[in-house]
Amino acid sequence: MKVIHSVQEMQARADKVRRSGHSTAFVPTMGYLHEGHLSLLRIGKKKSDDLVLSIFVNPAQFGPNEDLSSYPRSLERDLALAEKEGVDAVFVPTDKALYQDGYQTYVELEKLPGHLCGLSRPVFFKGITTVVTQLFNIVKPHIAVFGEKDFQQLAIIRQMVKDLNFDIEIIGGPIVREGDGLAMSSRNAYLKDHMRPAALSLSQVLEKSRSMVKSGILDAKLIADQAAEILSGFPEINVDYISICDPLTLEEVNLIEGKTLMALAVGLEKIRLIDNTILEP
Ligand code: PAJ
Repeated sequence: MKVIHSVQEMQARADKVRRSGHSTAFVPTMGYLHEGHLSLLRIGKKKSDDLVLSIFVNPAQFGPNEDLSSYPRSLERDLALAEKEGVDAVFVPTDKALYQDGYQTYVELEKLPGHLCGLSRPVFFKGITTVVTQLFNIVKPHIAVFGEKDFQQLAIIRQMVKDLNFDIEIIGGPIVREGDGLAMSSRNAYLKDHMRPAALSLSQVLEKSRSMVKSGILDAKLIADQAAEILSGFPEINVDYISICDPLTLEEVNLIEGKTLMALAVGLEKIRLIDNTILEP
């Protein structure tokens, strides 16, 4: 497994792989790998000859009061896990390599970031679409795999790839959870034992909502209200949003007719947790 820090070296490698007629699958991450990330690597591995992982904590997607400096990092451990999954190359750029002095180019979508996480994190998706565009230009993959855990991010990447005619197939991987239902996340490293019941309330709310829909309750307000009520049982939780929306446009819906996204974001003692599910009558 090659570990590459330089943009030029990564691009030269991509050209060589393409010339040899092989296909590359790419999994971009911010590191501190867990089973969720590894599941995406396994999807990529099955679908291509060559598997590239990137590890880069992207400063452009963190707001001024967010956790950029404390974001969990562990490169040695990540490289060992990547090697076990059969990754062929890991791209680990420095901040300066991607954001050179005088940097001034950003990629921004007009509508999709105006919902869900974009409302409370104004620079978040602009930072993501910008860095993912750069990574696509450097890794030059045929396929890129993103997790449904970050449903809005996946929707935004799909839209960007369509709008800008990137010649890359985007694949979504299902949410990987802990045994108790908690969606895996690098930020779970911040969770202390006493916070666990509150953290688990997100997946429990989604489970309860799915069973309400199964029992015929299709009024989005009723479902959102019960979700709010369960979450209000945890005073340490600050709800950012409970959204029941169209999975393509992310516009709120009143009635659950076809496949509908239910997405949650909360703050738990300064730790941001998100989760989602598809509700379907
Ligand atoms: P990061 O949070 O490290 O996540 C990297 C990829 O892993 C994303 O596609 C994310 O959706 C996926 N992922 C995270 N937790 C998951 C889980 N429990 N199950 C399945 N997939 C999961 O998302 C980012 O990094 C960044 O925004 C990035 C795209 C790398 C741009 O900087």
